[in-house]
Amino acid sequence: MPMPRRAAQAFTAVLLAASTVTALSHTAAAADTLGSAAAGKARYFGAAVAANHLGESAYASTLDREFNQVTPENEMKWDATEGTRNTFTFGAADQIVSHAQGLNMKVRGHTLVWHSQLPSWVSGLAATDLRSAMNNHITQVMQHYKGKIYAWDVVNEAYQDGSSGALRSSPFADKLGSGFLEEAFRTARGVDPNAKLCYNDYNTDGVNAKSNAVYAMVKDFKSRGVPIDCVGFQSHFNSASPVPSDYQANLQRFADLGVDVQITELDIEGSGTAQANNYSNVVKACLAVTRCTGLTVWGITDKYSWRSSGTPLLFDSNYGKKPAYDATLAALGGSGTGGGDGGGGNPGGNASCTVSFTRTSDWNDGYNGEVVVKAGSAPINGWTVTLTFTPPQKVASLWNGTAAWDSSGNVMTVRAASYNGSLAAGASTSFGFTAVKNGNNSTPALGACTAS
Ligand code: G3I
Repeated sequence: MPMPRRAAQAFTAVLLAASTVTALSHTAAAADTLGSAAAGKARYFGAAVAANHLGESAYASTLDREFNQVTPENEMKWDATEGTRNTFTFGAADQIVSHAQGLNMKVRGHTLVWHSQLPSWVSGLAATDLRSAMNNHITQVMQHYKGKIYAWDVVNEAYQDGSSGALRSSPFADKLGSGFLEEAFRTARGVDPNAKLCYNDYNTDGVNAKSNAVYAMVKDFKSRGVPIDCVGFQSHFNSASPVPSDYQANLQRFADLGVDVQITELDIEGSGTAQANNYSNVVKACLAVTRCTGLTVWGITDKYSWRSSGTPLLFDSNYGKKPAYDATLAALGGSGTGGGDGGGGNPGGNASCTVSFTRTSDWNDGYNGEVVVKAGSAPINGWTVTLTFTPPQKVASLWNGTAAWDSSGNVMTVRAASYNGSLAAGASTSFGFTAVKNGNNSTPALGACTAS
């Protein structure tokens, strides 16, 4: 016998409430680490990893718990993989790759062509020989890892600092000219067509002569069909080299050329709230750029940072979470033991949002409502919406938000859940509720949206 309509609707409402509770608790549980919170924003959050620390249990457990992408810090560089011509050693890098694969983490290959950590035998070659050594190196290393690397830093740090906008002096630039860049990318595409091919550099994080030079190269590659898929912004910051005010705009202008962008070696010297705010702002900038597909911090713990004395990372030397960790997690929309956003706030200071309401289903004594919250022209870190109900209507359940009631029991203030408060500029999210009519069929009055 079919279920009476009212019973069926009530049953559906219960099912809906039950399923949303399941989804909600699942999401909340999953968003208390950097990797899972970033995944909720369709991004990865990774760390540079050193093979010789993987045996340290706190190091490995922090990596395994928090991150879903790794970059070998030194193990895939030329001196580590081909210290002697045509003799390839992959042991340490393989160790990192298999660790990552076991946990379904993405691996970024770092790096194929770089002037540093380059064995002396390469520097000594004449042009023709150097060209074939470069192409052979790219081919052998990429072949070994074919299918295991989501993106390669094909060329690293090819441009000079300062105002010249010129290539830096290196065996490659000096002997092969600027064409080595194009040749490296073309060779790389031929070896592993499924790997993303990136250019990676530092001091290119804001708009300046160096980033303009990289921008021109990417634009030129795109116009001539030279393969390039992504640009990495290392983002090594300290007081002498702070997070630039045009960081997001710079990421966006590269993305607008038709490449993905990534934060590839993030570390920010400092401590406490100031460091936390900087991390928060970097994360928010990435989230505000649709083609910013992930962030990687350059190490897990201050203990092993390449600039350890500047304490630039998210975990202290004892693997304790720093305020920077809490701020990063909060900016990613996650929630952790530390809680708050470390005072991150909205970098633009002009947070705003708008709301709209729809009754999505109705039955005799109840209805479901959905409120869509849309960020204004700046990214937001949180939102609050008020709905006023006419008694004796009551709200039976709420999902994707957290409710508080005034003393009359008729005014419901909903703030974002732990995972849907951070929105990119123009992005939207929604929350919903089931109301019991109790004989009154009116629609609640929707108040304005407040953003933080
Ligand atoms: O492993 C040896 C050790 O056996 C030896 O006793 C010791 C003595 O110096 O050196 C150790 O190797 C060092 C290695 O790091 C591992 O710690 C090298 O000397 C040292 O030069 C190397 O530094 C690396 C640096 O690149 C080299 O340029 C850093 O770890 C690494 O974090 C850093 O990473 C670079 C990126 O690849 C590119 N962007 C900038 C970034 C920071 O400099």
